[in-house]
Amino acid sequence: MNVGVLGVGKYLPPKILTNKDMEEIVETTDEWIRTRTGIEERRIAEDDIDSSDMAFFAAEQAIKRAGITAEEIDLILVATVTPDTPFPSVSCMIQERLGATNAASMDVSAACTGFIYGMATGSQFIESGVYQHVLVVGVDKLSKITDWTDRNTCVLLGDGAGAVVLGEVSADKGLLAFKLGSKGSGGSHLYQDDQDHLIMNGREVFKFAVKQMPQSSVEVLEKAGLGKEDVDYLIPHQANIRIMEAARKRLGISEDKMATSIRKYGNNSSASVPIALCESVEEGKVKDNDLVVLVGFGGGLTWGSIALRWGV
Ligand code: UT7
Repeated sequence: MNVGVLGVGKYLPPKILTNKDMEEIVETTDEWIRTRTGIEERRIAEDDIDSSDMAFFAAEQAIKRAGITAEEIDLILVATVTPDTPFPSVSCMIQERLGATNAASMDVSAACTGFIYGMATGSQFIESGVYQHVLVVGVDKLSKITDWTDRNTCVLLGDGAGAVVLGEVSADKGLLAFKLGSKGSGGSHLYQDDQDHLIMNGREVFKFAVKQMPQSSVEVLEKAGLGKEDVDYLIPHQANIRIMEAARKRLGISEDKMATSIRKYGNNSSASVPIALCESVEEGKVKDNDLVVLVGFGGGLTWGSIALRWGV
């Protein structure tokens, strides 16, 4: 049984915070943020919009595009580190709101790698014949755990959600391989403190990511029995353009073959990969039969990659 993506969806809050706006909040410059990170602006959700709202909007779109009804979903996996509340889970909240009356629901916590963990997990239920349709959502409202006085982190982050519906696809299409990993000893480089703020040792995370992202990309291709030359499109976690470039160069693909939604949205944590995937599909950059590599890393530390033959 081949498992692939039947539909994609995303939600970005309308409120834009530009780098110029950030200059009013902390001591920084548009030039510093642009050249060190690739970010030009980010989206920030209003107070009355929480993670479950954004997850719901993205999920609704993905289900519609998949051409199924909410009742046909067997499992909802929501990757998030900023749930509305520790419990009930965001997945239960959207299960009710979507009317997914036949779905089991749980949240996945693997920070920025959460969506890739969710997709890999969800695909197993379908491949084994247990379930037919799995909804996987990546959502984070990082603005609620951002220390708005810390220029090392606040300029990087943004809010949003992305979603996919997984289901059976035709032979040769869908997920070809995945690789997941973790290293708890690096947990102190990126965590939430007792004030609920996101704390990051940027340099340490950078060093880890710039090595791990290219490595994960190559490893998943090897596992799928493919090579760098087979890759049509790269969708890396949108954390820093310099880290993303390291992965792109390792694969030897041209700039136009990599998603760069980071410019408009910043780092959306669990939501960054599905938002970039959704946008790439909408813009026609990911086409039928393309070999797509999704790759991410995040707090934990965690990392993961997926090789995917696009299409149904
Ligand atoms: O998804 C979560 C994973 N997180 C990440 O992937 C982040 C990984 N890390 C990074 O992307 C980069 O390390 C940063 C963008 C966070 C920082 O870039 P960097 O090139 O590693 O800068 P740095 O930490 O080495 O800092 C260079 C200088 C420092 O000043 P001093 O100590 O050299 O005087 C910082 O204080 O830049 C300063 N700086 C800033 N200056 C202006 C740090 N943040 C800012 C800022 N504006 N916003």
